[in-house]
Amino acid sequence: MQSEEIRRRFLTFFEKRGHKVIPSASLVPENDPSVLFTTAGMQQFKAYYVGKANAKKDFNALNLTSSQKCVRTSDIEEVGDESHLTFFEMLGNFSFGDYWKEEAIRYAYELITKDFGLKIDYVSVFSGEGNVPEDIESAKIWKSINQDLIIKKFGRKDNFWGPTGAEGPCGPTTEIYVNGIEIWNIVFNEYYQSEDETLAPLKVKGVDTGMGLERLVKVIQKAQTVFDTDFFIQIMQIANSRIIADHIRTSVFIISDGVTPSNTGRGYILRRLLRHAYIHANKFGGDLIILNDVIHAVIKHPSYKELYEFKSPEIFKIVQEEIDKFKIALENGLKQLKKGVDPFVVSTSFGLPLEIIEELVDVDKIKFQKQMEEHRQNSSVAGEQKFKK
Ligand code: GLY
Repeated sequence: MQSEEIRRRFLTFFEKRGHKVIPSASLVPENDPSVLFTTAGMQQFKAYYVGKANAKKDFNALNLTSSQKCVRTSDIEEVGDESHLTFFEMLGNFSFGDYWKEEAIRYAYELITKDFGLKIDYVSVFSGEGNVPEDIESAKIWKSINQDLIIKKFGRKDNFWGPTGAEGPCGPTTEIYVNGIEIWNIVFNEYYQSEDETLAPLKVKGVDTGMGLERLVKVIQKAQTVFDTDFFIQIMQIANSRIIADHIRTSVFIISDGVTPSNTGRGYILRRLLRHAYIHANKFGGDLIILNDVIHAVIKHPSYKELYEFKSPEIFKIVQEEIDKFKIALENGLKQLKKGVDPFVVSTSFGLPLEIIEELVDVDKIKFQKQMEEHRQNSSVAGEQKFKK
């Protein structure tokens, strides 16, 4: 089954069960300044969980479903293993006060075992921690569906989700594991976490689920890694490096949502992804041409026709400009490093991040971090003095 069909089946399954299909929101969150990127399907719906907006009024439905574009850079170190990506699509079903645990769990079980024909290794439920009680109800529901199911219990670190950003809806989760990986996270939003991390019960309980499409495709296609799924087959033939494949794919989607490389925030993440990809291409004897071919392969995937038709000239142009700039910085930086100039000095003069310098020469990290700390303190003192004047 191809990824397109898998996405379609998920959305249709929920559409047939009273959910309205909602298009993905932008990767740049519209009304959540505390996060750089959209990291979950529920993010565009935060206001509906807390009663600040009315889904009945806006969508004529209390239950929604979507495949949301997401970027998560917190797992960036894990990119290159079997299942982590910085960009992915997140399939989800959402309910704002309509259905609750029984339906959410039954839907998930039916879709995974019947429609997708997968075998569940085990499920997990919240074990209770702090003021939040154990989720006995979910465990009972799972048992009533399938007595033989293995149910594991974990605390806040594993089976409690949210909020996205500094505050928002969150709650205990029940999670489904297939072929050794967590594929579906079902969140029971029943709390609001404030900035000071205190929890207050929500007036209306909500359901929020997240299933990474690429991971689901991996298990359905029995692929060894996410890079062996139909999303990546063409890309990997060109890139030959998981890092290049991941970082260029993510950059394409970030650029297509209007972000350009810069030294701060979203633009800085984009800059780092592109520069990293370029360094890797270089290692394999390649150049910008490889990156361009990878961009081409990303937007040629049948799922992303829109990018291909409307956004590709812009994407190629932005990547070209960024790499041209980087080449100059890199060349000059390299010359200095070869001459024995201190890595920290090279880093600040040429805008080369530590992780890139590390790939070129051995760096005394402790010394580097100390220098960085001093640099920060000096610049903030200078800033304060300027301010006083
Ligand atoms: N919002 C649920 C998840 O991202 O896993």
